[in-house]
Amino acid sequence: MVKCALVSGAGMGIMHGRNFNNHPDAQVVAVCDMVPDLLAKAKEEFKVPGYPSIDELLANCDAELVLLITNETRRIPPLRQIIAAGRNVFTEKPLCGLEGQHRVKESDAEIAAPAIKEWRKSGVKFGIDYNYRFFRHFKMLHDDAVSGKLGQIQFVRARAHFACWSHIIDQILWTMGLPEWVSVLGDPNKPGGWHRLIHMKWANGVDGELTGADSWGWDDGPICIMIVGDKCYAEAKGLEGSYRRHKSYSAELEERWVVEEGRQEYGESFARMADAVIKAMIANEPFPADGEAAWNELLFEAAVHRSARLGGERVYLADVEKDVMK
Ligand SMILES: NC(=O)c1ccc[n+]([C@@H]2O[C@H](COP(=O)([O-])OP(=O)(O)OC[C@H]3O[C@@H](n4cnc5c(N)ncnc54)[C@H](O)[C@@H]3O)[C@@H](O)[C@H]2O)c1
Repeated sequence: MVKCALVSGAGMGIMHGRNFNNHPDAQVVAVCDMVPDLLAKAKEEFKVPGYPSIDELLANCDAELVLLITNETRRIPPLRQIIAAGRNVFTEKPLCGLEGQHRVKESDAEIAAPAIKEWRKSGVKFGIDYNYRFFRHFKMLHDDAVSGKLGQIQFVRARAHFACWSHIIDQILWTMGLPEWVSVLGDPNKPGGWHRLIHMKWANGVDGELTGADSWGWDDGPICIMIVGDKCYAEAKGLEGSYRRHKSYSAELEERWVVEEGRQEYGESFARMADAVIKAMIANEPFPADGEAAWNELLFEAAVHRSARLGGERVYLADVEKDVMK
């Protein structure tokens, strides 16, 4: 039985806590929240001891996995605390964003860098909730691209409403790896989720484009990725879920999958992630999306921010990494 401690009595925290607690091989054994009402709510939900600080939680409970479901404005200090205590940790995305998840900046990568360095040395497991990896349609796209079914990949086209922003970046990086450079139009000085028109290139010659905005993107599914290869091209779309694959140069449909009536991949993906995390704990394997994936999203976002700030200049991710990891 994997003993879990939950930090957060707020909505997302309770949702994750339930998914882990309902798992046959896991149990929430303690909870923590600095807000008394939310701590009381979490204690009542899981019928376990509760603590108002992470220090007290760590001192009083032997949970081997801490579910740190705070948000990106206050994730890094508790994350470092948990890693320093030698506990495995699972958290939400993005790793850091002091102005919120729709305005991640290069300075956020600087803040997160020490946590990544400490985690790499620590030997603890660190997971991040890129739960869209457990949408069946995104998994189909990933598998078809990495297995070679699409042939030689030529380019990637993607778009997302900012509600899905971390996830679309993770999807692209999960399948394609980090691009070599980005060039971005958009004005980071605008308030809110400033729109981003991103061009990118991978070292193997693949081109990519990704558009993100707050003002647009819900009309036809808030997330969509197409990968075009020289044999086939394929598209995964939406929170409910659909997938299609066509022959390149002819548009002939090879495969079409639509989620069953009454089901939704988004809703089901959190429990699938919890299941995969617990299985990884038991098998002593890395988590399905780990600290490297968390770091890659942040590094990409930092490069996007720098390029937009510089009026669309080509920014190499390796240069940004050298600067923020120093
Ligand atoms: N994966 C997805 O699809 C998905 C969907 C929705 C939200 N999210 C993410 O989930 C996260 C949700 O965060 P939130 O807004 O609920 O978090 P939050 O920061 O409001 O914190 C949640 C709770 O944790 C407590 N807390 C925070 N720091 C603490 C500390 N150091 N010690 C003790 N208690 C502490 C707070 O009092 C609060 O009650 C966001 O990062 C969001 O991006 C992900």
